[in-house]
Amino acid sequence: MSRIDKATNLMDFRAMAKSALPAPLFHYIDGAADDEWTLRRNTDAFMDYELMPSYLRDVASVDMSTNVLGADIDMPLFLSPTGMSRLFHHEKEAAVAKAAAKFGTMYTLSTVGTTNIEDVAAVCDGPKMFQIYVFKDRELTKEFLQRCKAAGYTSLCLTVDLPVAGYREKDLIWGMSMPPKFTMKSLASFAAHPGWAFNLAKNPGFELANIAHRAEALKGQGVGLMEYVNQQLDQSVSWDDAAWMIEEWGGPFAIKGVQTADDAKRCVEIGASAIMISNHGGRQLDSAPAPVDCVAPIRDAIGDRLELIVDGGVRRGTHVLKALALGANAVSFGRPYLYGLAAAGQEGVERVLTLIRAEIARDMRLIGCSNIKDLPRSAVQHRLK
Ligand code: GLV
Repeated sequence: MSRIDKATNLMDFRAMAKSALPAPLFHYIDGAADDEWTLRRNTDAFMDYELMPSYLRDVASVDMSTNVLGADIDMPLFLSPTGMSRLFHHEKEAAVAKAAAKFGTMYTLSTVGTTNIEDVAAVCDGPKMFQIYVFKDRELTKEFLQRCKAAGYTSLCLTVDLPVAGYREKDLIWGMSMPPKFTMKSLASFAAHPGWAFNLAKNPGFELANIAHRAEALKGQGVGLMEYVNQQLDQSVSWDDAAWMIEEWGGPFAIKGVQTADDAKRCVEIGASAIMISNHGGRQLDSAPAPVDCVAPIRDAIGDRLELIVDGGVRRGTHVLKALALGANAVSFGRPYLYGLAAAGQEGVERVLTLIRAEIARDMRLIGCSNIKDLPRSAVQHRLK
């Protein structure tokens, strides 16, 4: 039995990622902003809800398929955008995208991924979303939209919670800045993982593949790649820019990072199709609420006018059921598949998806739900204090 087959739950992969990766890289995935209160709260908040089972309901077969952002998916969970995958495994984004397609779910490619739009599309025939920021370089934004259309991406998602980078203290401690400023301790950790360094040397290919060409064009002006990324985050972005992008894209469109009912109403007004209720995995505003706590208030405020996706803290099948019973259409996660990727490449991601899919199916039976789309609000209650 291999190491990954012995894993009994998603958090086992966190331990495997921790031993596979040099510390600066593990903490880049695992860490979050300030005191990491929001990071912890994202998962802990699920414990404030109880699932209310209904028995004798014929759960011989369960159907967990659903439709989100114009895509039919075989389980109510898809993969959130995450950057820099090459640092964690040489199979990088392609491994994750292929695993997603194999499980009939959606992969989201990040703007700061290390594989480009077309290369992901070439290996992933399942539903695909591209994550985008509003960059000052509007030509680059237009170029992304065109390339995503040409490459068959099914939807687009605009991240709105990053006007500036959050204060990620672990990255400072371990020197994961842009550009890196490694300390003696972090260099020692690289030295203690020679396999990782050997692998990087053997399979290079670390570049921010979607933006490298624009940064290249600016090189003559003395602007480096990382400087380019930092400079490009446009702090003057407004709802008008989001509306412009929705119009320009003309297909299923998610706004990622919204957490309040008022902002959700704005999303309806500008014609978004979905909200990814997210605090960027606790990596941005520490003290932001847990996404699961935002679902019911947002659903009550906007009715069925938008799809809601809970992005943050999901580690168990029961978490998925709680989010859906509260009114979400689907959930997504980032860290768990990165732990799987770091542990064992595509195989690791597949094992993570196998475990969570089995948990969802088991929990549907335990709660008495044969079709995930019929999960009623009464299946969840706020825990009495
Ligand atoms: C990028 O979006 C990150 O959170 O590191």
